[in-house]
Amino acid sequence: MLKVHNLSKNYGARKVLRDISFIVNPGEVIGLVGENGAGKSTLLQILATLQKPTNGSLSLYERNFEDKKNLRKQIGFVPQEIALWDEFTVEENMVFFEKLAWTNRTKTQLKQLCLDMKLDRWKDPVKSLSGGMKRKLNIAISLIHDPDLLLLDEPTVGIDLKSRKEIGNYLKRLAMDEGKIIVYTSHDMDEIISLCDRIICIGEDPFYKNLLEEAGKSIIPV
Ligand SMILES: Nc1ncnc2c1ncn2[C@@H]1O[C@H](COP(=O)(O)OP(=O)(O)OP(=O)(O)O)[C@@H](O)[C@H]1O
Ligand SMILES: [Mg+2]
Repeated sequence: MLKVHNLSKNYGARKVLRDISFIVNPGEVIGLVGENGAGKSTLLQILATLQKPTNGSLSLYERNFEDKKNLRKQIGFVPQEIALWDEFTVEENMVFFEKLAWTNRTKTQLKQLCLDMKLDRWKDPVKSLSGGMKRKLNIAISLIHDPDLLLLDEPTVGIDLKSRKEIGNYLKRLAMDEGKIIVYTSHDMDEIISLCDRIICIGEDPFYKNLLEEAGKSIIPV
């Protein structure tokens, strides 16, 4: 279970997140929506332990966020900006990140993860991949250590619709079958509506909340 209690974040005088509280249960896919600059990436970075909140407390399965070292073993993160070794092949990137992870994976398992993400360019250098393919590789990397909490910041930008649906179904299964918690941001409301069980709308503007309520989605009050 992920618990966020009275979380705030200021960057200097700019108040980005104000007093946010919510609880996510195992097996839930949570959407995070809001306009540009609303604070979606900031919240995900805090959940990924990469930024400190100004105020508030967080825990994942009763583990406090002060315990970063152990917590990071339970968290997978796909940042909004693609983070890969461009000169290395897909295989070399997967092996590199596997070494940094806390679990051992065979090459067959690593390759299968890429195939699950609809990426079949195992021997090709990353610099020769398309934008969407790099995103697929980033998602595969985030799954190497089999995290309990998966944080995805606009992971499907540039990914073709068919692959997007397939990746979406894969993520849904991860949540449903293995009890993973997934927090997902996207500006694609169709994707949010089809993928997410419940949705957090951040920012003052009621536009997204109204739109998603009209579509029959359950909004998490923060
Ligand atoms: N490191 C930083 N230092 C100062 N201000 C920052 C920093 N990171 C983000 N901000 C500011 O915080 C606000 C929220 O940014 P954030 O990237 O979290 O928004 P977002 O909801 O992810 O937007 P987008 O939809 O464009 O990705 C913005 O006003 C941004 O300028
Ligand atoms: Mg963002």
